[in-house]
Amino acid sequence: MTPAYLRCISSGCGKVFPLASSRFACENCGSLLDVAYEFAPVEPAALRKLWRERLGSEDPRDQSGVWRFRELLPFLAPTAVPVTLGEGGTPLVEAPRTGRWAGGVRIWAKHLGANPTGSFKDLGMTACISAAVANGARVVACASTGNTSSSMAAYAARAGLAAVMFVPFQAIAAAKLAQAVEFGARVIEVRGSFDDAFRLLRAVAARSALHLVNSTNPFRLEGQKTAVAEILEQRGWRAPDFLALPGGNLGNVSAMGKGLRELVALGVMDRAPRLAVVQAEGAAPFYKHWKTGEPIQPVEHPETEASAIRIGRPANWPKARRELEWTGGMVESVTDGEIEEAKAALASDGIGCEPASAASVAGVRKLCRAGRIPAGADVCVILTGHQLKDPDYILRRRERFEAARVVIDADEEAARRALEALLPA
Ligand code: F0G
Repeated sequence: MTPAYLRCISSGCGKVFPLASSRFACENCGSLLDVAYEFAPVEPAALRKLWRERLGSEDPRDQSGVWRFRELLPFLAPTAVPVTLGEGGTPLVEAPRTGRWAGGVRIWAKHLGANPTGSFKDLGMTACISAAVANGARVVACASTGNTSSSMAAYAARAGLAAVMFVPFQAIAAAKLAQAVEFGARVIEVRGSFDDAFRLLRAVAARSALHLVNSTNPFRLEGQKTAVAEILEQRGWRAPDFLALPGGNLGNVSAMGKGLRELVALGVMDRAPRLAVVQAEGAAPFYKHWKTGEPIQPVEHPETEASAIRIGRPANWPKARRELEWTGGMVESVTDGEIEEAKAALASDGIGCEPASAASVAGVRKLCRAGRIPAGADVCVILTGHQLKDPDYILRRRERFEAARVVIDADEEAARRALEALLPA
């Protein structure tokens, strides 16, 4: 089996810990940890062929778009049965109208909202809950803006674990809360922000023997990193020029970067795309840090209608920075108005997503306008959550909603008049 361990990301420390552990920070210096492997050399063509052949297999691991790539996840013993709901295997579709709207680029949307609970979190949760079970965890917990908690609740139910979530009171989408409750999670609603909820959870977790499944748990990122393998496979292993995604706690960009690094090191792909991470203007501490080069300053009262990324203290920023530096990446910030326009552009291509996801596309347009993404570039955007995660966002746009609909009696003449009104010649 490939040797695997936990390693501190700080270059001045680099301390190594055994894998069978629920440690999420370096005991020596407090930095974040990576799951690290000593991969043996592989024959890239054979590995790509093996992954593709598994698409026709009945093994539940092969029907998961995460575990199909299990050579990239050798933290789990080959005999262990992962906790899976058939995650991954999500569509990559071109969005031509959106590409023209953004400034004449080719945009490919990788829709991670098409996962079992409707967000990319499922890719990480199958890995993290499988590791938690292997570590003997009984109760899992997270702080969340809504998607992590729905995903945790589903995978915990699947594994027979109890789940507790800390969420900001009245600040997450109702559909997300409903999902978690249906899966049996216990909900603690904090009068405060996501950052307050995360701080409280961390303060009480050690005493309560809770197993944390936030993205500071490095096993989460292991699952999420497989999205890049799937994207590359769907593109015949031709890397796009750019890979753009929204940033909140900055776990996902860290996961994508790690996945790319490993695939390049294994020789499975020859070059990585440049990563572009996009934050909402009212919750953009990492954007400011990147732009000014000054130490990261938390945003005490993060504000954006894209509630999934309303985060003022992104825990994974050092990992995100490492991955952006490695790929020659960039960071952008966008207003809520720009997010709304991007969401409408995607809708014109028949693609729905939750507001936070559309930030990636809004960022691509801004980077095109600034000349930092050239016209004609091949851009892959990660859509992180399903359109129906936040229907209230659509319903709040009352005028547009009302203009699109008419209520009539069950009468033919009324139907004719309604058609004339809605579809004028
Ligand atoms: N998009 C959506 C839909 C999200 O739910 C999140 C994060 C992000 C983007 C940002 O990803 O944190 O890895 O940078 N949601 C977390 C949650 C925080 O609790 O559901 P990130």
